[in-house]
Amino acid sequence: MKMKLIGFAAAAMVASVSVSAKVPKLKVNNIDAVIKAMTIEEKADLIVGARMYHQDENAAPHIKESWKVVPGAAGRINPVPRVGIPCVVLSDGPAGCGILPVEGEENYFCTHFPIETLLSSTWDVDLVRNVGEVIGNEAKEYGVDVLLAPAINIHRHPLCGRNFEYFSEDPLLAGKMAVAYVDGVQSNDIGTSVKHFAVNNQETNRMNNNAIVSSRALREIYLKAFEIVVKESQPWTIMSSYNRINDVYASESPELITTILRDEWGYKGTVMTDWWGGADGAAQMIAGNDMIEPGTKEQAAHIIKGVKNGTLDEAVVDRNVRRILELVVRTPRFKGYKYSNNPDMKAHATVTRQSATEGMVLLKNEKQALPLSPKDKNIALFGGVSYNFFSGGTGSGDIHRPYVVSLLDGLKNQQIVVDDNIKAIYQAYNRPQEQGEQMRINEMPMDTAIIKYAAKNNDMAIITFGRISGEYIDRVSSDFFLSDTERELVKNVTRIFHEANKKVVVVLNVGGVIETQSWKEMPDAILLSWQAGQEGGNSVADILTGNANPSGKLPMTFPVTLSDHWSSLNFPIDQKIDRRWSVKTGLTHETKNVDYTIYDEGIYVGYRWFDTRNLQVSYPFGYGLSYTTFEYGKPSVKQDNGKVIVEVTVKNTGKVAGKEAVQLYVEAPAGKLDKPVHELKAFGKTKMLQPGESQVITLAVHTDDLASFDEQTSAWVTDGGRYKFVVAASSRDPRGDVIVDISPSTRKVNNVLNLPAAFKK
Ligand code: BGC
Repeated sequence: MKMKLIGFAAAAMVASVSVSAKVPKLKVNNIDAVIKAMTIEEKADLIVGARMYHQDENAAPHIKESWKVVPGAAGRINPVPRVGIPCVVLSDGPAGCGILPVEGEENYFCTHFPIETLLSSTWDVDLVRNVGEVIGNEAKEYGVDVLLAPAINIHRHPLCGRNFEYFSEDPLLAGKMAVAYVDGVQSNDIGTSVKHFAVNNQETNRMNNNAIVSSRALREIYLKAFEIVVKESQPWTIMSSYNRINDVYASESPELITTILRDEWGYKGTVMTDWWGGADGAAQMIAGNDMIEPGTKEQAAHIIKGVKNGTLDEAVVDRNVRRILELVVRTPRFKGYKYSNNPDMKAHATVTRQSATEGMVLLKNEKQALPLSPKDKNIALFGGVSYNFFSGGTGSGDIHRPYVVSLLDGLKNQQIVVDDNIKAIYQAYNRPQEQGEQMRINEMPMDTAIIKYAAKNNDMAIITFGRISGEYIDRVSSDFFLSDTERELVKNVTRIFHEANKKVVVVLNVGGVIETQSWKEMPDAILLSWQAGQEGGNSVADILTGNANPSGKLPMTFPVTLSDHWSSLNFPIDQKIDRRWSVKTGLTHETKNVDYTIYDEGIYVGYRWFDTRNLQVSYPFGYGLSYTTFEYGKPSVKQDNGKVIVEVTVKNTGKVAGKEAVQLYVEAPAGKLDKPVHELKAFGKTKMLQPGESQVITLAVHTDDLASFDEQTSAWVTDGGRYKFVVAASSRDPRGDVIVDISPSTRKVNNVLNLPAAFKK
């Protein structure tokens, strides 16, 4: 008996050896063979990610091991060692590489780069590409295979909690910035995940909200930036969004993920869910959402069960597994890249410091209050945030940075003397960082006697106002307006300093739009510094001192007030119902702006609305000042191969070197469809122009991109007729135009993503 048992064991070993000898190990060119060799359990394992928060005591040792790879990474693709599939690591962005330090382990600090909103304010695709390249290098050196960035949703409303992570209210600017970012990161041979596809424009009830959007607004506004980046950069992965679009979860929508993304735009990469997004794993599989992140073992069990009971076709699973494996074989981990865990943090700090200055927007500069003159030696620094700068927003877009340079430190680093008494008062003030969950900073009431002291003893004042927002929760309206204390502060400081003939500069350390109209007359200068990453205070000081000349322009409109946005009628402003990220309900149309949000404004988002209605704005889209001035020559135009090419000479007519962002808006002739008065169709930025120097900027528009989407015929329609191409310094500052005759054209596409019957007008 004993002999027999041994004999059986030996036979089994031989069998297993001979089976495993036949099992293919993953290579670039044997994906089909590997899929054939995989069990359904292994396929399900691969699809559902590495179960970040569901660490299962009984999980296989190789899966447990994979949890230790790159601590703090948001997700992983499960390894399947039997067929040679390694664990692939997915880490957050966009403002850097979002991994966490682990006590006793290597130094896992990551460079905190400027928020995306600042990057798009540079209007400089070369700069953004360079930042992307550096972020990608850092991620790769920490062992990351795919960076979960950039986020490219549209700034539909100023109170969306995650606008700081997004680029713009305009899809062309967002799309081109995304191209630059993706090209930069992917030049390191690591992947990106462009997110959140699509229409993820509010955080309230974000996992369940049903965005009710016309197919025209989808095509022209909410999908456009994704279309641009997919066609121009082929990001390795796309992350589907949490929300529903016209009743269907984005991650479960074949119309979105297959018909539009793959069939129409030719996307070849992998699609993953946002973390725990959607409700029905089988529906996600069928829709073409290849990966379910971060994955639970229940989801894996559902896939296995679905295949076994015939409700989920294994061919669908295989198709998705193939796309995952096509991703895996491109990764550094698969290629055996030996990462250093030691990126060049010093060099990266220099990149963030320099790039941040180019995205800061000088909103006001009366009588050349800035840059500081040699007389401005002693500065009274007001506003609690001056001493404690916000480097970025909260949530998954936050970065575990090594430090943040405050404005205080930034000024000191440039030998500017900051009033120590004012500093001591602020530093002694025990301000709660958070009021409730709004992250609203609690500004300290400032006694006028102290301001009088400050005005007597200093050459000028700087006040910083700050705002921080983030994932899971939208901003509230009181976050948009200055608080009473802040208003008092700017009123009293400007009055008292002006009485002493001294100037006051306001710095806005914010992640999104705030109200400026009611107080902007008071200070002499306003610098919108955004949240500029870990070197923020140094970057601001570079601009204040004139070491850097600001060249940022607004990627969104600063309205007079919140209700001027049409979308304010349909956005969860100060919504009392508390449904946030983790709540999932069935499809319900119960609570407006929570369960469902009607995008009633259609395509009239941002300047498309303000400019068409000719509403007064505080600062228009595309606006920003410089320490120098620019003159635009007369534009010329030619047509070549379906493109309209406008050229304009831009000359630096001031006294210091500077860069200018040049915009091209197009006014279409009247046609069948209602259109915005103008739309941004191209942009460019000069190099650093010395005083007196000029440069020809070339702005090209393909005539296909003049089309609007006609819902009745499901077609992109370019009306024939006379189009005006306007070269401008902002959406409200035209500098010259040319008229071009365009022939009509029509391009039919699929009739998909229509409004649900209950919402059809
Ligand atoms: C966010 C994504 C992020 C993911 C992983 C989600 O909550 O919406 O942007 O990439 O978490 O951290």
